[in-house]
Amino acid sequence: MRYCSRRQQTIFGQKPFESACLPTWLPSLGELLTQVISGRNRDLRVAAVDAMTTNETLWFRDGYPFDVLANRLLPELGEGRRPIKIWSAASSSGQEPYSIAMTVLETQAKKPGSVSSVQVTATDISSTMLANCRTGIYDSLALGRGLSPERKRTFFKDLGDGRMEVMDNVKRLVNFRHQNLLESYSLLGKFDIIFCRNVLIYFSADIKSKVLNQMAASLNPGGYLMLGASESLTGLTDKFEMVRCNPGIIYKLK
Ligand SMILES: C[S@@+](CC[C@H](N)C(=O)[O-])C[C@H]1O[C@@H](n2cnc3c(N)ncnc32)[C@H](O)[C@@H]1O
Repeated sequence: MRYCSRRQQTIFGQKPFESACLPTWLPSLGELLTQVISGRNRDLRVAAVDAMTTNETLWFRDGYPFDVLANRLLPELGEGRRPIKIWSAASSSGQEPYSIAMTVLETQAKKPGSVSSVQVTATDISSTMLANCRTGIYDSLALGRGLSPERKRTFFKDLGDGRMEVMDNVKRLVNFRHQNLLESYSLLGKFDIIFCRNVLIYFSADIKSKVLNQMAASLNPGGYLMLGASESLTGLTDKFEMVRCNPGIIYKLK
C-alpha cells in the first residue's frame, strides 16, 4: 500500500488530491474518505492523521512558558508537597514535554527540596509522532532548534552519528499517550498545569470552546493553562482569569 507523501496535500484540504496518490486497492477518493472515516483500517487512519496534521515544534518554544514554570508555577505548586501533574496536550515530536521535564530537573537541581515530584503526561493524535517521542532520538536539525550547548551536554547522550538521545532521567518523567482533543479526557485524570500550545488554530471557534471548557474540567483547583504565544481565550471560555507574567500571559482556573 502506498500513500501520498506530500504532507500538506491533505485528504480534506483545499488542494486537489491526485488519483496517483490513492492506494491501488481504492477505486476512488470517495471510497478513501469512507474508509478513513470508518476507522476500520488502522494504517489508513494513521496515514490520514499524519497527512492532515502539522507537527512544527522546537525546544523551549517561546522561552517564557518554561521560565514561568521554573520561577513561578513549580515553586507555588511545590508547596503542596504532592506530585505536580503537568499535561502537554499536543506534544508533536516530544520537544515540548521533554523541555518541561528538563525545566523540572533544572529547578530541582537549583533549589533542592523545592519541588518534590512531577509527572508529565504528553499526548497527541498522531501515533507516528508518539512513537518518535518514545524513542527520544533527535537528528541534528531538530537538535539545532532551541537547545543550548549546556542543555545538550546535560540532558542528551551522543549517539555518534549526528543524532542524540534524551537521557533516561528526563524520559522517566514523561508518559506518552494517544489522545484526540475532540474526545473525552476523563481517563487522563486531573492536572495542575496544562500546556495546550499551537494546536487550537486547527479548530473552529465552537470546537475551541469545547476543548477549553473540557480542559478547565481537567484542572485541579487553582490550576494553570498555557497557550501558544499567538493564541488567546477571548470569546471562547469564561473559566479562566488572565495572569500577566511579563513577558507572556498564562491563565488560571477561576
Ligand atoms: C504545531 S504542533 C504543536 C506542538 C507543540 N505543542 C508546540 O507548541 O510546539 C500541533 C500538534 O497538534 C496535534 N494535533 C492536531 N489535532 C489534534 C487533535 N485533534 N488532538 C490531539 N492532537 C492534535 C498534531 O498532531 C501536532 O503534533
